Amino acid sequence: MAVIETQGLTKQYPSVTALDHLDVTVGDGVTGLVGANGAGKSTLIKILLGLVGATSGSASVLGHDVATDGAAIRALVGYMPEHDCLPADVSASDFVVHMGQMSGLPHNAARERAADVLRHVGLAEERYRPMGGYSTGMKQRAKLAQALVHDPRLVLLDEPTNGLDPSSRDDMLALVRKVGHEFGIAVLVTSHLLGELERVSDHVVVLDSGRLLRSSATTDFLHATGSLVVEVQGKPDADRLLGQALVEAGLTARPAGGALIEVEVRDEATPDVVRDLTVDLGLGLVRMQERHQRIEDVFREGGAGSVLPV
Ligand SMILES: Nc1ncnc2c1ncn2[C@@H]1O[C@H](COP(=O)(O)OP(=O)(O)OP(=O)(O)O)[C@@H](O)[C@H]1O
Ligand SMILES: [Mg+2]
Repeated sequence: MAVIETQGLTKQYPSVTALDHLDVTVGDGVTGLVGANGAGKSTLIKILLGLVGATSGSASVLGHDVATDGAAIRALVGYMPEHDCLPADVSASDFVVHMGQMSGLPHNAARERAADVLRHVGLAEERYRPMGGYSTGMKQRAKLAQALVHDPRLVLLDEPTNGLDPSSRDDMLALVRKVGHEFGIAVLVTSHLLGELERVSDHVVVLDSGRLLRSSATTDFLHATGSLVVEVQGKPDADRLLGQALVEAGLTARPAGGALIEVEVRDEATPDVVRDLTVDLGLGLVRMQERHQRIEDVFREGGAGSVLPV
């Protein structure tokens, strides 16, 4: 059974179509939902929770129809909203216990589960302090803890890395991965950065203006949009020589500033082609890194066609 399934799902606001005949299926594991600001990510999540009604089309979550079974869905699903929603004068500990009880757990069980999940998200002694004094990173972790307290089958995480610095972002992504892969909870996680979701997602769904642009395994997606940044040395003009050889080999390569070359990844063999040509030219490979584009850049550069077909 699909974890999430939508058919022709449409949400029309007076002046904008937030979702436009969306057909998408999400399975177990971690699924990244990527799209620029306004693409419809939060609208989709709210419809899946039964918090917002669709204009037309249908959607089901764990086999329950969102239009009629909202309560059943919310019992099985944890939700981490996008915006700050934590009461400032309540501690994370009290808040998560309360949310556990709201989900139907008896008081003692809620206390035990709250202590467990707060430990998992890395809120230790601070959990007894009012959340108003928390850093953004701590607030995001408290929001994640409340989404997990009732041991859901699926969690919907709306921009969990929003506002985080690079190191807290890494910690949050590691947690998301752990939820999906160690706790065995299906995860739908949104971001406007494709690059960060590919690190934790098994599958990526891309929305553009409410339409499905792509839905595929993460590895397939990266082959369609990723590029390699290559630095070579050993001869004057080493970068130009390699660039030329790559183009002759049928790849797309361009100067990337300094002595760097950017090569579009065509398939899994592309890094080997770069290595082989470097050796053939008698050059030394200083570094080769994957570069993933921000999803906005993908849209801007090639339009939808650059990452199609779905
Ligand atoms: N309650 C509402 N009334 C009117 N328009 C809305 C409402 N909620 C969302 N929209 C519009 O629907 C579109 C999709 O919004 P949504 O919040 O789902 O996007 P998003 O992908 O979550 O964006 P972000 O990355 O900024 O969070 C936007 O154009 C937004 O302005
Ligand atoms: Mg949003």
